[in-house]
Amino acid sequence: MSEQAQANIGVVGLAVMGSNLARNLASRQGNTVAIYNRTFARTETLMSEHPEAGFIASESIDAFVASLAKPRTAIIMVQAGAGTDAVISELVDRFEPGDIIVDGGNALFTDTIRREQTIAASGIHFVGAGISGGEEGALKGPSIMPGGSVESYQTLGPILSSIAAIAEGEPCVTHVGTDGAGHFVKMIHNGIEYADMQLIAEAYDILRHAGGFTPVEIAGIFTEWNAGELESYLIEITAEVLTQVDAATGKPFVDVVLDQAGSKGTGVWTVQTALDLGTPVSGIAEAVFARSLSSQAGQRAQAGNLPAVTTAWGVADKAAFVEDVRRALYASKIVAYAQGFDAIRAGAATYNWKIDLGAVSKIWRGGCIIRAQFLNRIADAYAKNAELVSLLLDDYFTQAISDSLSAWRRVVAHAALAGFPVPAFGSSLSYYDGLRAARLPAALVQGQRDFFGAHTYKRVDAEGTFHTLWSGNRTEVATEPSTH
Ligand code: 6PG
Repeated sequence: MSEQAQANIGVVGLAVMGSNLARNLASRQGNTVAIYNRTFARTETLMSEHPEAGFIASESIDAFVASLAKPRTAIIMVQAGAGTDAVISELVDRFEPGDIIVDGGNALFTDTIRREQTIAASGIHFVGAGISGGEEGALKGPSIMPGGSVESYQTLGPILSSIAAIAEGEPCVTHVGTDGAGHFVKMIHNGIEYADMQLIAEAYDILRHAGGFTPVEIAGIFTEWNAGELESYLIEITAEVLTQVDAATGKPFVDVVLDQAGSKGTGVWTVQTALDLGTPVSGIAEAVFARSLSSQAGQRAQAGNLPAVTTAWGVADKAAFVEDVRRALYASKIVAYAQGFDAIRAGAATYNWKIDLGAVSKIWRGGCIIRAQFLNRIADAYAKNAELVSLLLDDYFTQAISDSLSAWRRVVAHAALAGFPVPAFGSSLSYYDGLRAARLPAALVQGQRDFFGAHTYKRVDAEGTFHTLWSGNRTEVATEPSTH
């Protein structure tokens, strides 16, 4: 092996996220960081801009691998998909048993499961790690959600802990679970992020167009809310966005932005996965569909004159109105997080992961996009009862919802009457009412299914499965042993 200094960690892919992560790693005591980028010019730029980092730079993948001390540990920070696969195969060809390859991109967790299974045969550890916090987080301290083998975390854990954000004195990183668990939890994080952003947007829309507040006034309202139970990064940045004035026109920035939201796909994955798992994530789903609807430019252009038939939202007491909206936002947010954690439980059961929901809530307290004071309450809930079947059943959240319910109902009802789209507020309220309902109209759905498809049904008063002979004399027959 060459005599050159060897790195305890390497980064492949030096776009902004990768460069910032490399700089963060290099700034921490005990790390020597190797760097490699397919285009060497980018490596040279990073070296020249940050000589203090003491990077070990390589122009070739062979030199990069040679610069890593064993167990060689490299974090891939390239675009999810083919780019990642290409780098993985280059490293697999050169790494040895015990070495560690980390995919730090937003890979789909099923791809990570597949890759980990394929690579494990070589004795090399493959770790899918969600890294949340954007470019600033990568540099100053992200929330990190690694999966992969327990053995790999023995090496990786201290390195990631050296760069993770700190919340309540603890690094925002934990070994989430094996194989794809890390990328799964990062995906759920992103789904919750979508719901959080949609809920804030719905609150803004109501405050703006029912309350008559200006963007700057709403920024002030959000800043006040950020001092309380809604304290969060997303509330904080929303106030920043709403104070922004467009330099070209002098108009509020939010008014010159085209109202068609994009997405890179992680929210879609969350909903698709939740559908497969049979776990409702209505707030997240409505957030994804709200982005889709916003982008239906053709339909919207022709739908603009559809009948409205609305009733004005008479806001007599602005302070009370603002408080109603705040409570509706908080209650809906609780539902969105409860559904997100339900999805993690369902994923863990399906993919045989042992995921500590309390640990997940703790590493989301800092560094990531959904970081919020609220996550301390979730951590408390799981500390009290690690087997909690729903966050909504934790005393704190039950009380929080109870305190907000009448406001929540008023806001959803007035929004419907006034013609304001509140898909996330409304679906979250309906989810809550559905969850607590003693009887659901699903009974009728079962009857319909049995009528046209003979799909059978169960009874409330007997074991077994039944079918009614609808086209005959409509007697009921047991299709499985019954006590009827
Ligand atoms: C994060 C972010 C990040 C991703 C955006 C993509 O955790 O740092 O979630 O992973 O860039 O979420 O957002 P869109 O899907 O909205 O494009």
